[in-house]
Amino acid sequence: MAPRLEFYDRRPAPADFLAEVLEGLSGPQKRLPPKFFYDSRGSELFEAICATPEYYPARAEAGILRRYAPEIAAVAGHGGVLIEPGAGNLGKVRLLLECLRPAAYLPMDISGDHLGVAARGLAAEYPWLSVQAICMDYSRGLDRLDGLGGADLGEGGKKIVFFPGSTIGNFEPSKAARFLWQAARLAGPGGGLLIGVDLKKDPDRLHRAYNDAGGVTREFNLNLLFRINAELKADFDPERYYHYAFYHARKGRIEMHLVSRGAQEVRLASRRLKFADGESIHTENSYKYTVGEFEALARGAGFRAVKCWTDAESLFSVQYFEAVGQSVALE
Ligand SMILES: C[S@@+](CC[C@H](N)C(=O)[O-])C[C@H]1O[C@@H](n2cnc3c(N)ncnc32)[C@H](O)[C@@H]1O
Repeated sequence: MAPRLEFYDRRPAPADFLAEVLEGLSGPQKRLPPKFFYDSRGSELFEAICATPEYYPARAEAGILRRYAPEIAAVAGHGGVLIEPGAGNLGKVRLLLECLRPAAYLPMDISGDHLGVAARGLAAEYPWLSVQAICMDYSRGLDRLDGLGGADLGEGGKKIVFFPGSTIGNFEPSKAARFLWQAARLAGPGGGLLIGVDLKKDPDRLHRAYNDAGGVTREFNLNLLFRINAELKADFDPERYYHYAFYHARKGRIEMHLVSRGAQEVRLASRRLKFADGESIHTENSYKYTVGEFEALARGAGFRAVKCWTDAESLFSVQYFEAVGQSVALE
């Protein structure tokens, strides 16, 4: 059987990248959206983070998916359309495919070249599956999927949005609510959401996960500056920034920053940006939830909690929700 693969390239234009970077670096607290971590090198470094001994979320989540795949299939059903925003290397879905047996799989990611390679590999490995990979920025709306190719999306039966990797933690809670609302609309009444959510825990454990001894997370964070230099002709000296990640207990989130070593000036397009000694660029948040907190967030977006699985240490959760129709207008 020949692989069944389509690839839709809707990657953001370089001008959009420049505009967002300039905007992010113009406020009193400089910030850059975490989606910009993921050029091909960034995607490789994220995979390397997942393999570090300190980064428990990837292993805990994979363990849950492997162990409970039959139960997940029992609630999610077979033969539907599986839609995965931020699909990365498509490693997690492999743990489900044989049990779930969807008719179609739609991985989407902003890191287009990385997605293309991963999707070709997956389609070759699972020739019974229709794979429709989409390079896109889901922060512009999950509903940009409308009108894309395959009759599968419209007519292929129940839709399940699969969102592992605790990527939902990268959204501010209000934006997470909006994203979930869009996911509920995409899934439609009776559709599902299978989502990986990292749980609140001992801050020391969290701190170690984002400050691995091998310095991979540091390299991932600094890659953002290498990428901006390469794609936007800036002249950041990455050696003059250090990686800083800590758990902000009151906000329930890991914050990741790049902190300037000394006062410095950087050229970016036609602008010169000033950094004071110790000034930071806030590059990522990773919110942690209790199971109850996350269920409440999803309920507000139009989902009903169906089932929650955790690992033996309760470090991580995989939660299944059913879309029940939306009474609250968020858009
Ligand atoms: C934390 S990683 C998780 C990867 C994978 N789901 C996993 O569980 O291993 C986040 C993924 O989402 C993608 N991503 C981040 N922001 C995105 C955006 N705005 N639009 C599309 N993909 C995005 C990244 O390229 C990356 O592959």
